[in-house]
Amino acid sequence: MSGICGNVLVTGSNRGLGLELVRQLAESPSPPLQIFAGCRDPNGPRAQDLRELAQKHQNIIIIKLDTSSEASISEASKAIGPKLKDGCLNLLINNAGVNIPGALADTGEKEMVDVFVTNVVGPMLIAKEFLPYLQKAASQSVQHTGMSCRKSAVINVSTLLSSIEKCHETFTMAPMYPYRASKAALNMLTRCLAEDFKKDGILVMALHPGWVKTDMGGPQAPLLVVDSAKGMLKVISSLTEKDTGTLLDWEGKSIPW
Ligand SMILES: NC(=O)c1ccc[n+]([C@@H]2O[C@H](COP(=O)([O-])OP(=O)(O)OC[C@H]3O[C@@H](n4cnc5c(N)ncnc54)[C@H](OP(=O)(O)O)[C@@H]3O)[C@@H](O)[C@H]2O)c1
Repeated sequence: MSGICGNVLVTGSNRGLGLELVRQLAESPSPPLQIFAGCRDPNGPRAQDLRELAQKHQNIIIIKLDTSSEASISEASKAIGPKLKDGCLNLLINNAGVNIPGALADTGEKEMVDVFVTNVVGPMLIAKEFLPYLQKAASQSVQHTGMSCRKSAVINVSTLLSSIEKCHETFTMAPMYPYRASKAALNMLTRCLAEDFKKDGILVMALHPGWVKTDMGGPQAPLLVVDSAKGMLKVISSLTEKDTGTLLDWEGKSIPW
């Protein structure tokens, strides 16, 4: 049971962790009212699995959302806004992300900028664009006191590789300059949003899914996508105000910045 109700938006939900998060939310015994599943190309072959899932669950609404495009984010907000029950968005999961090999020799301006646009700029613009709906959810939720994902929350999917303190342990196996730098920036974005949105009662935190067998994680990753998503949803559903502005992993353990 996910314990996540209300209206949810998951970005990058046509494959990998995003798709599994949408699947587990939809299949939970008390599923969210509406699950907005963002993906770049809802009608293309890469969204086939998501379309099949949406056919089985009426509460899944597929939305065209390219998180690297300000215009697409604005269009998605215009499409989602009128569909939101009571105009409230209770949970935003900024999951869409990109990685490239990224050793120093392979990294130039284009690599740095492209990864930053998706991993940092996108989540910032999405949080800004959807803020009115998150604020409405926080102010209308009279039955939930304090902060929680049932009330109003933003989850930024980060990574252990973002940790500056852990860099000496993780660097050799995964140099990844653009990815590491972008996710460290995403962590700062998380802290800024957490401070900013505190007054509204909106929880903001960063979550590391573990090293997971997806297209990004690769076949050698130790963790199955189903187990990571299950853990992530368990952590998300148990968050309270003490967790705003933190970086946790899929088992709820704290990761140093
Ligand atoms: N897998 C791991 O071991 C691991 C570890 C730590 C953190 N993470 C984080 O977990 C998140 C999900 O990763 P994953 O393993 O599921 O990766 P994945 O299998 O590569 O899937 C990435 C998803 O993000 C979407 N996406 C990428 N750029 C996008 C854009 N501009 N607009 C909309 N969607 C976009 C992709 O859509 P398309 O099909 O259109 O490309 C896809 O749905 C990422 O933020 C990643 O950094 C993963």
